[in-house]
Amino acid sequence: MKIGVIGTGYVGLVTAVGLADMGHNVTGTDKVTEKIEKASRGIVPIYEPGLGDLLRKNLKKGNLCFNSDLEETIRSSDVLFVCVNTPQRKDGSADMTFVEGVSRCIAENLNGYKLIVEKSTVPVRTSSWIKRTMTLYKAGECSFDVASNPEFLREGSAVSDFLDPDRIIIGVESDKARDMLLKIYEKYKDKIYITNIDTAELIKHASNSFLAMKISYINLISDLCEKTDADVEFVAKGMGLDSRIGKQFLQAGLGYGGSCFPKDVRALVKMGEDLGIDMKLLKEVDRINMARTDMFIKKVKNALWILKNKKLAVLGLAFKPRTDDIRNAPSIHIIERLLEEEARLSLYDPEAVKNIKALFPEGRPEILYAASAYQALEGANAALFVTEWEELKNLDLKKAKKLMENPIIIDGRNIFKPGDVRKLGFEYYSIGRK
Ligand code: UDX
Repeated sequence: MKIGVIGTGYVGLVTAVGLADMGHNVTGTDKVTEKIEKASRGIVPIYEPGLGDLLRKNLKKGNLCFNSDLEETIRSSDVLFVCVNTPQRKDGSADMTFVEGVSRCIAENLNGYKLIVEKSTVPVRTSSWIKRTMTLYKAGECSFDVASNPEFLREGSAVSDFLDPDRIIIGVESDKARDMLLKIYEKYKDKIYITNIDTAELIKHASNSFLAMKISYINLISDLCEKTDADVEFVAKGMGLDSRIGKQFLQAGLGYGGSCFPKDVRALVKMGEDLGIDMKLLKEVDRINMARTDMFIKKVKNALWILKNKKLAVLGLAFKPRTDDIRNAPSIHIIERLLEEEARLSLYDPEAVKNIKALFPEGRPEILYAASAYQALEGANAALFVTEWEELKNLDLKKAKKLMENPIIIDGRNIFKPGDVRKLGFEYYSIGRK
């Protein structure tokens, strides 16, 4: 079986490399020639631990290649994994223009049976639209199947998520499609769960929205903790000891960001509303998440009163650790709000500075990009911790205190233990803890 992976963005690149590492013959294709040139030379344009090594290993093995000729990739493949992006539209729904375009191109280049596998996150019922597009534009009599195989990888641990998944969801409606996908994922046969296509499509959105709901839930509980003597860390731990609840995704803080959760929750809301379903539960999940910036800015103001001309070190800019991705990162809203208050900012992140600079260009007197966390802390009136990078967790706080103008920490990710930090002489504010 020859596999074509269409789209070499985040999901596509990991999918192409992962499938090649499983021993398959894979061609990755993308209309952006720069991505293809880089991938062909073993260069990963994003920061993702382990991906570069695996890419180079499989290029060397000879069963992985990249090109920007979509039509040729379609013609020479038996299976096509569709990994193009589905950006969010103004009304929250997913923009399916690229999926439609690729479907049409597959239809026009159908030179034999093809299995078209949706890998990108798509709204439930997308497969029916792909099938309709295929039927409308299909050249000749060749047959095809559509299947759904949603991707659950997390940024920062994408390689291990792909190669050691909790489950592989396969949505199919023909024996042939099922058998082909079972063959591709032969190695993982105990982890495969087969459903119909609508179900598989919905599993993806339902899973991400559920995890987002867990985060907003614990953030709501953290607000309650702040008004009482309860401590959210212990509440989360106590809840997580119940195996029905589970301990993961109960870390209170600045809320969820990234390319998936915010977009997927809104897309599911829109999908449900279009089908006449009351989606208030998930709207509230989104609202609670968006309100986390307000909550944090309030804490900063409570600690510093007037922010104008105060120097604030903002530590951690990526939407989470181990990535350079800043899409929907809480840091963006926080920086915008602090600039509105005319604060002076020194910004630091181990990987995401380049991306943040594109939004907040260098050269403005109120923004300084620091080369290290310590440099950012020099003369600061407060340190704001926004992403829980290991490097930041391991900061030498004694040294930090000496560098700062005022020893004030506002910890948006509960990185430190309150007792430890206070013992060093810091004024310390965190989330849902005293
Ligand atoms: C997510 C899903 O986990 C993955 O399965 C899907 O395919 C893509 O979306 P990702 O966006 O890479 O992955 O990040 P994830 O690790 O899930 O974290 C999402 C956001 O939630 C981050 O901003 C993180 O900081 C936040 N989060 C996570 C919390 O605030 N608290 C938690 O307890 C867990």
